[in-house]
Amino acid sequence: MSRIVYVNGEYLPEDAAKISVFDRGFLFADAIYEVTSVLDGKLLDFEGHMRRLHRSLGELEMEAPCEDAALEAIHRELMVRNALSEGLIYLQVTRGAADRDFLYPEGVAPSLVMFTQAKGLRVSPAAERGTKVVSIPDQRWARRDIKTVQLLPSAMGKMAAKKAGADDAWMIEDGFVTEGTSNNAYIVTKDGTIVTRDLSNAILHGITRASVLTFAREAQMKVEERAFTLEEAKGAAEAFFTSASSFVMPVVEIDGQPIGAGVPGPVATRLREIYIAEALARAS
Ligand code: PDD
Repeated sequence: MSRIVYVNGEYLPEDAAKISVFDRGFLFADAIYEVTSVLDGKLLDFEGHMRRLHRSLGELEMEAPCEDAALEAIHRELMVRNALSEGLIYLQVTRGAADRDFLYPEGVAPSLVMFTQAKGLRVSPAAERGTKVVSIPDQRWARRDIKTVQLLPSAMGKMAAKKAGADDAWMIEDGFVTEGTSNNAYIVTKDGTIVTRDLSNAILHGITRASVLTFAREAQMKVEERAFTLEEAKGAAEAFFTSASSFVMPVVEIDGQPIGAGVPGPVATRLREIYIAEALARAS
């Protein structure tokens, strides 16, 4: 079944959708993106994703392709046209097509591409069994807070994880965990404190992270936003990661070493349930 995708004002069958070879997203990775999850036909954390989109646009001095209301309408139209009730909606904005020049061109309209991905998010075999991660050096650029499409280091990291028989990789810089290849990383200390790296240019400011920390604090759980080392992670009671595509995902092994009891822990399991219930309650 062919999907209907959105490209610059048109809804098209996926094989009819085209972007210029001069598009700066293709030539320079001069593009940003968002991934929003859909559960029960509702958009989760949509306002957070729109806020971060504007932040990324601002950091790159890129124009918005259209108003937020129009972006929301396209999200909903794609859900209808593709009968999507559970999965992801991908949105990418590029600076547009122009003759190749490193300098940003002027007067060029941004490109907007959006598509759906059907995916079971609520019932997840990976969440039930827990995931295994390997640690790799963080080789990405210095502005990881901008949600750009410069994802080659992340793709290489996921491949390294797969080759090592793991599900994902956590990236290490100066001995400290920055984040996962496409998610934010957390540990739970032996006294039950949830620890995740503080916000800076070193990590992407996850929208799921923001919601999960809010819900954890509302549930009177202890939260600390600070860097933690790989060694601390290996000795932690629990580990997990968050993203729009995985919600809260337990990690049961790092570099072949079991974490805690080697099975999804109570904090991660509870936070997954809380996130799904609370995010859905606030979604539309
Ligand atoms: N990735 N860190 C990185 C490097 C990411 O790529 C992502 C999201 C996150 C979590 O952000 P959020 O909670 O807003 O999804 C953290 C998306 C899902 C992706 O690339 O598919």
